Amino acid sequence: MNTADLSARLGCVGRTWTPQQRLHVGNVAWASAQGDGSTAPDLSLEWGDPLRGFADIWLPESAAEQATVALHLAPGMPTRQLANAINDVLEVAPRVTVEVSLQQAEIVSALVDQGFRQADGPWFAQLWRSLDDLTDLQAHRVPDGCSIRRVHPDEVTERVEVHRRCWDPARIKQMLNLPVTGDERGSSYSVDKHLAVMGTPVYRADLDLVAEAADGSLVAFGLGWLDPQSGSVLFEPVGTAPTHTGRGLARALCAEMLRVARGLGATQAVVGPRGDSAYPVPRRLYEGLRMHEVAQIVPFTNG
Ligand SMILES: CC(C)(COP(=O)(O)OP(=O)(O)OC[C@H]1O[C@@H](n2cnc3c(N)ncnc32)[C@H](O)[C@@H]1OP(=O)(O)O)[C@@H](O)C(=O)NCCC(=O)NCCS
Repeated sequence: MNTADLSARLGCVGRTWTPQQRLHVGNVAWASAQGDGSTAPDLSLEWGDPLRGFADIWLPESAAEQATVALHLAPGMPTRQLANAINDVLEVAPRVTVEVSLQQAEIVSALVDQGFRQADGPWFAQLWRSLDDLTDLQAHRVPDGCSIRRVHPDEVTERVEVHRRCWDPARIKQMLNLPVTGDERGSSYSVDKHLAVMGTPVYRADLDLVAEAADGSLVAFGLGWLDPQSGSVLFEPVGTAPTHTGRGLARALCAEMLRVARGLGATQAVVGPRGDSAYPVPRRLYEGLRMHEVAQIVPFTNG
């Protein structure tokens, strides 16, 4: 994505942000660098000037399958414009799966009017907390032998390596209770992707935190995205290496992220873990930081 398109999208998402909407500026930046493992979309659509909505579309391999659509339509868009935007998507991709916030009722009803229904399958919870009073965070002490700090500028390789260990597909399969075959490929995260993340206008090294073990290796990380306009910080992504889980490291790191973010002016924090019971650990991590559900991001389909 070129710089002008990215800044138009960041402006569009940030201008009308509410904790109930699907995207935060951090999600937009993270996806633009393909940090989320996505490939480049086959098609993109945009609405409004200044931008009020956009969609990325991944077309299916065969006509029998559905396209995957990542859609953002700004809160407050008139009903007719919502319907027109959905029609534009259906013109290029007649059968579609799209994730929507159930709390953006106007988008849900525009989809239902066009024959969409909620689909089964994984969904995401949007968890939120205020940063007014952070005294509860004192309970989340850094485990013995570890320290939490911002990443150093000369540590890109190590930073990428800890991300890759945390998000190793075989490890994620284990956490999902899926069979591990040994044929799994490694994480797609790379130095190039991390440099792309660092090149986005909303990346801040002071919210790129790592946990260092006694032997100097990096064993956990968390990336925070601050939106100064709404005073909100998003965690995306977070990880603890399999060798160091269950010791309170991720919680201590996220607690530090919240303190740093508040020092930078944030007043609220959000994160979007899986909401369904197939992948419960991240939700438990964040709920232990007093973050609570304010929205459900669920798949809708017309297939
Ligand atoms: C999710 C993840 C970051 C947790 O890291 P962690 O350092 O083990 O987390 P903490 O030790 O701070 O524990 C947080 C909570 O999760 C629980 N937990 C951690 N690992 C668990 C496991 N394997 N099974 C069940 N609960 C687990 C802890 O008990 C704790 O909950 P509790 O205090 O209510 O009992 C780590 O498992 C990970 O990197 N997973 C892969 C990447 C990922 O899913 N990241 C989060 C995406 S939003």
